[in-house]
Amino acid sequence: MKLSDEQLQQFDELGYVMLPDIFSLDEMAVVNGDLPRIYDMQRDEVWRESSGAVRTAFAAHTYSEPFDLIGRHPRLVEPVQQLLGGKVYIHQYKINAKAAFDGDVWQWHQDFGTWHRDDGMPEPRAMNIALFLDDVTEFNGPLWIIPGSHKEGVLEAGHDLKTTSYPLWTLDNGKIAELANEHGIFSAKGRAGSVLMFHSNIVHASSPNIGPWGRTIVYLSLCHVDNHITRHKRAEWIAHRDFTPIDIANDDCLKELARKAVAAE
Ligand code: SIN
Ligand code: MN
Repeated sequence: MKLSDEQLQQFDELGYVMLPDIFSLDEMAVVNGDLPRIYDMQRDEVWRESSGAVRTAFAAHTYSEPFDLIGRHPRLVEPVQQLLGGKVYIHQYKINAKAAFDGDVWQWHQDFGTWHRDDGMPEPRAMNIALFLDDVTEFNGPLWIIPGSHKEGVLEAGHDLKTTSYPLWTLDNGKIAELANEHGIFSAKGRAGSVLMFHSNIVHASSPNIGPWGRTIVYLSLCHVDNHITRHKRAEWIAHRDFTPIDIANDDCLKELARKAVAAE
């Protein structure tokens, strides 16, 4: 799948692009079907909120067949290769479950700020492509983005080890107010199967989920193979050390997996 000239221009100007309804609901059902098993796992990769609800399942491509296919799906990987100009590897893989009532905040931050400071990633030649496994609405903690903030470069940040169960390099409220007053805030909403791509320097956050509906988003953080990390301070399953280019799967791989599951019944 290739981005159009208009989409490339939007990405350049605003630092993000929304791609609605890229996957069918049948395809999303194949992926969602493995979530209860994953959320029940007691393993280091499955990170919980202070309430005990699952916050993030890291590296799910290493222990789930449908999530492995998502991490190699041409509809997700090819547009990133197009934007970054070459082969990419998986730097980080997150299933972020913002649980109904319990899903906690993601403070204002830039991803490259963390990748650079913690992982020694040389340049912002890496980015996120996010897949909505549920409908994301104003009621279940959509991602907030400050359009155009990717042009600010890496902003000053403090290492917040207290606010949530997950340490993050977070931005100063004064800077957020200044940027939001200038550019506004975009709330990334869409139906299940929709995709959001965003620049690694975009300023983003999401509020706690006080609604009765959870929302799960998968974030693939893909990095150009020539720009791999140089520091291994964080666990391997948070900041991967395998820089092999992604082996792209077939476009109908999720349907094939569903067919195989039916045949095996
Ligand atoms: C992130 O910024 O990495 C995740 C934010 C979210 O899922 O709300
Ligand atoms: Mn982020």
